[in-house]
Amino acid sequence: MATEKILAEERRLLGEFEVVEFVDEKKVASLRSQLDVDVPLDLQWTWEYGNEIEELRDLYEKSKKGQWNAESDIDWAHPFPRDEWFLPRVGALLMPSILTEMGADEATCKEAAWDEFAHLISQLLHGEQAAMQLCGQLTNACPTMDAKFAAGAQVIDEVRHTEVLAKFLQRKMGTLHPIDATLKVLLDRLLAAPTWKTKTLGMQCLFEGMAVGIFDQVARATTNPLLHDIIRRVQVDEARHAAFGILTMRRLVKESTTEELAEMEDFAFSILECLNANQQLDMLRVFGPKYGLDPDNVVQMTPSLPEWPALNSEIYMHTVVPNLKRLGLITERTESDYRRLGMIHGQVGAPITH
Ligand SMILES: [Fe+2]
Ligand SMILES: [Fe+2]
Repeated sequence: MATEKILAEERRLLGEFEVVEFVDEKKVASLRSQLDVDVPLDLQWTWEYGNEIEELRDLYEKSKKGQWNAESDIDWAHPFPRDEWFLPRVGALLMPSILTEMGADEATCKEAAWDEFAHLISQLLHGEQAAMQLCGQLTNACPTMDAKFAAGAQVIDEVRHTEVLAKFLQRKMGTLHPIDATLKVLLDRLLAAPTWKTKTLGMQCLFEGMAVGIFDQVARATTNPLLHDIIRRVQVDEARHAAFGILTMRRLVKESTTEELAEMEDFAFSILECLNANQQLDMLRVFGPKYGLDPDNVVQMTPSLPEWPALNSEIYMHTVVPNLKRLGLITERTESDYRRLGMIHGQVGAPITH
């Protein structure tokens, strides 16, 4: 079975590596301005108000205990100074790492870290809005009350994440970047997916799994107390959301036919492959000229570096790959492709447990 290549028409080869990138600014603008998405949604009533799926009810209980207030529980008086390192100069972000290697001065590297990070948090913010919208859909479409409770509780978590990241950008970074075209296409696709099962796999397993990896890395690496507090709080919530995805998928996988499993495996691969195929080109295209970096050169250079598979795979290997493998949604059929594209490297660890 051939896996669908998302955005086939936006692909080109850079060296050996096939990238996805929108180079037509008009297309990017039109994707961003498309605010209405046609979503077919099957709303489900249920008259079973009791507890049917214990692990989801437990998760809902954890959600209630884990609530926090993005306005009053965060000490917004903490500074986030533009001229101080908040992440290590090398290894955490792409541009300061490359610029350091090229011999750029510290102030330039700091400025590049600031720009890249504002761009990253902006994309995460748009992702939070998508998660909020999608969980509203799941509250409608999931057939059991336990799943509706878990999804409903997640809606307020995602509202809070949208609030806290927007406030961080407005109050501390003074900027907010528009959504990347590739991300908009992928999020639209999940929001418009026809069944709650595909939405759960796409948002709850893939995007939540990626979010857990990214937030965990930032929380571990940052030296700024305000950023650490915000990201750690968000990350604890995201771990619950990823657990909601895994617990639901475990049941779904058991009930699925071999054909349905193969479809899910292909769907997961196609979404993650598309994310990987952008290789931060959307970000490099915005800031490359400011720092004298040619985006194509950067992307042509990095996959040939010996440490690239280890670095590139880190986010995937953190949560999403171990979870998919445990679910049986990465099998021999796709694993070699994940490895070839630098998304799996070395031994796949154990998935997170809750
Ligand atoms: Fe979130
Ligand atoms: Fe989430």
